[in-house]
Amino acid sequence: MMKETAQAHANIALVKYWGKRDEQLILPTNSSLSMTCDGLLTKTTIAFSKQYTQDTLTINGKIASQGDKNVFGHLERMRHLAGVRLNAKIVSESNFPVAAGLASSSSGLAALTLAAMQALGLKKSEKELTILARQGSGSASRSMCEGFAVWHRGTKKDGTDSFAETIATKNNWKEFRMIATVVSEEKKHIGSRSGMAQSMKTSPYFATWVNAAEEDCTRMQEEIAKKDFEAVGMRAEQNALKMHAVMISTNPPIIYWIPKTIAVMEAVQELRAEGIPAYFTIDGGPQVKIICLEKNVSTISKKIKSVEGVLKTIVCKPGDGASVVADHLF
Ligand code: PMV
Repeated sequence: MMKETAQAHANIALVKYWGKRDEQLILPTNSSLSMTCDGLLTKTTIAFSKQYTQDTLTINGKIASQGDKNVFGHLERMRHLAGVRLNAKIVSESNFPVAAGLASSSSGLAALTLAAMQALGLKKSEKELTILARQGSGSASRSMCEGFAVWHRGTKKDGTDSFAETIATKNNWKEFRMIATVVSEEKKHIGSRSGMAQSMKTSPYFATWVNAAEEDCTRMQEEIAKKDFEAVGMRAEQNALKMHAVMISTNPPIIYWIPKTIAVMEAVQELRAEGIPAYFTIDGGPQVKIICLEKNVSTISKKIKSVEGVLKTIVCKPGDGASVVADHLF
């Protein structure tokens, strides 16, 4: 039996990806920049065998529907590359709520890509793996990489220059922290795929967003190289708000925030007014991720846990890229 297991961490974007220039190949309208988070881990085992009469996928103990286009479409793509026709059994486990705005698709599709390619016997470089993972879910390209990663938008039609790479390793900025604050464990109501397409079609701010985000990505790479925490934090917060302005101005509107989201955003602003450098970022869901330095984690965590409705906080350091591991889930 061809069976392999891989693990990958979710990444949280500091400069967001929202918009595709090619829906099939998943090519973005702007480059993005993220931190791979050591506290948000997905592990996936895949086996291909004649024994299986159909493809199956189990995520955190629940059987997923065959309609999950991201996963099954991606599986088919990789099988096609290898010229293999066997059905697959996939079991995936994450140590955090999935599909709730904690970037589970980034770690999930990255782990699946690596495990499947390994099981199919196709050896690829990290760059090639980021290109392949990108076609499963855009943000998964960045989860292949250690530490801080940039996913280049690229300009080629075939997507060969739209890949992700590490721009700073986890040891380059050891003090950097991301506190993922969970305010709801419900599945999000609008997926990123349809949300982005709708924003491109209807938000009057979309073109402005693309230019601003590209500029943010260039500037933030310089700020990370200088380890200028306040510049990175401020730019990340501003960039997230620009993306949410596009989402909110989409027709019909895409509003991921709930009252508890705003309560945490306010708490972060209060911390800053008290002289503690803390910034927030938010993705396609109600959770708020707080960007800070190690020395301020306990003060910030204490304040955030006192906000009514905060269910959980997960403190993350810059983490490792995806890797093949030996302990299978079945
Ligand atoms: O890769 P997707 O399709 O899950 O899109 C991710 C979109 C955001 O999380 C909102 C932004 C980002 O860059 O991760």
